[in-house]
Amino acid sequence: MNDPKHRTGKSGASSPIDAECHALKIAVDVAEAWHKGSGPARPAVPLGVVATIAVAGMNAQHGPGLAQILRKQSPEEFITIARYTWAVTLHLRPDLTAWAYPLLGWLFENNDQQLRARIKRTADAALDARQLELTATDRRYAADLLGPVLGALRAPANAKVNAQMYTPGDVARALTALTLDDIKPGQSFCDDTVGTGGLFRVAVETIRSRGLNPADMVWVGADIDELAVAATAVNSVIWQLGPRIVLYVGDILTQPDWPAEAQRRRAQFLEQADGLFAAVNVLDFLKRL
Ligand SMILES: C[S@@+](CC[C@H](N)C(=O)[O-])C[C@H]1O[C@@H](n2cnc3c(N)ncnc32)[C@H](O)[C@@H]1O
Repeated sequence: MNDPKHRTGKSGASSPIDAECHALKIAVDVAEAWHKGSGPARPAVPLGVVATIAVAGMNAQHGPGLAQILRKQSPEEFITIARYTWAVTLHLRPDLTAWAYPLLGWLFENNDQQLRARIKRTADAALDARQLELTATDRRYAADLLGPVLGALRAPANAKVNAQMYTPGDVARALTALTLDDIKPGQSFCDDTVGTGGLFRVAVETIRSRGLNPADMVWVGADIDELAVAATAVNSVIWQLGPRIVLYVGDILTQPDWPAEAQRRRAQFLEQADGLFAAVNVLDFLKRL
């Protein structure tokens, strides 16, 4: 019953519910695979693995067919592919680097063999749950996969998915209904407890349904949880929110002027990144790792 294919309508098109069920199934399978091996909890690593498969699937010509290729890779080869994937993505979008980095630290560490095997087992679980059929197709707009994955990774052993980060689509739709009346290009969407970006996704659904482009909008979000913000940064690629996005990691109660502070940090980071990327091509740099 949980098989997403069995929930596909006659036309072959999937409803948002299909995609959300599918996301929950992937989340549970990924968390189970990650926790099967002994070792520290480190939710950033499996969340980063799912994020990597999502971004690789969007970049690849193979789409869902990429699953077969990735399954055949050794743990070391998978990590190399992951490095290239992020090198290319962040070369195009350096502004996302600082926000996404908490999910990417494992790419640059000297991981031991046990951790590499755990990473690959987790990637295989996501692929076996057909993640690419969700994130490498247009179904990616119909669900927030990273939200349930983070929730499942943080859930106590007896619970399936912790809803702290993640608002189901129908609730998110109800929450945003009043604010989505009259949408124009250039409009700002702000969520000061953004989590993994669930309300942004619902806004994207509405924007796209009116023939508008989410990349023409401005997206501003904050969260005290750096992994949630990192997931929103990756989701901004998955949902194609475009280049006008500003995220803030911190407590909005102690920083009421957080949007201005977020803009300041973003500008400062890009100034530094400009110098770095001018001196060293990111791909060449990563090749040497
Ligand atoms: C239920 S989630 C909501 C996520 C998102 N708005 C949605 O609807 O999908 C609540 C989020 O608020 C964040 N949060 C709670 N207190 C906060 C604070 N003082 N400053 C920033 N974020 C906070 C939590 O980390 C959590 O990710």
